[in-house]
Amino acid sequence: MKIVLLGPPGAGKGTQAEIICKNLSIPHISTGDMLREAIANETDTGKRAKEIMDAGNLVPDEVIINLVKERINEADCKNGYLFDGFPRTIPQADALDTQEIFLDVVLELTLDDEQIINRMSGRRIHQSSGRSYHLEFNPPKDDGFDDITGEPLIQRDDDKPETVKNRLEVYWEQTNPLIVYYRSKSVQTDLKYIEIDGSRAMDEVSSQIETALGE
Ligand code: AP5
Repeated sequence: MKIVLLGPPGAGKGTQAEIICKNLSIPHISTGDMLREAIANETDTGKRAKEIMDAGNLVPDEVIINLVKERINEADCKNGYLFDGFPRTIPQADALDTQEIFLDVVLELTLDDEQIINRMSGRRIHQSSGRSYHLEFNPPKDDGFDDITGEPLIQRDDDKPETVKNRLEVYWEQTNPLIVYYRSKSVQTDLKYIEIDGSRAMDEVSSQIETALGE
């Protein structure tokens, strides 16, 4: 199954992606995690992306499309995958069509701006895995440390309030149009479009997704 998780920053895409991918045994392809890894490894892509991400803007389409192209050619993607944070612009979505990659499901998580800001200010992540926690809604077992590795958690540079404001503007301007794009595709093709209220508690969101996907 090929799935796209769509939604504003902080809607819970990464959190739900982990659960869906575990249930369906498909890889989780997060372009945000891939870029953060590239920054940590100081690759050319990482150097190019750092300033753009810290400002809350989008990395150029051609950089992202190349990253994704390489990733989906790996052996573990043979039976499907879940895209989290990709596509984020109409040209990125068109690139999938050009390569004749046909999606089965687009799953949209909705959340209003006030809740988004609340989610991002309390988020802490484990840098190397991308696992995310929330100080209030999903705290780690041991305060400040990753549950699996015991390594320290960090706050993302782009979760600072001034950057979050820009990320939201960028989302509404460049990514939100994908909702209409995929909704109309779902009328014309076999694509299934699912909208889930992302403001509910994490386990409620997960079980609604599970039901909608017919897992
Ligand atoms: P990316 O990493 O993709 O960030 P994003 O889309 O802005 O999404 P987030 O990771 O912020 O949020 P999320 O929806 O995954 O929420 P999460 O589950 O963590 O992108 C970062 C940057 O990379 C972009 O700004 C851009 O520069 C660049 N980039 C990436 N992809 C790109 C692309 N395709 N094209 C161009 N540029 C690209 O949850 C958030 C918090 O809420 C957590 O603390 C979590 O514990 C908590 N939480 C989750 N669910 C719930 C719930 N139901 N109730 C309460 N709390 C919850």
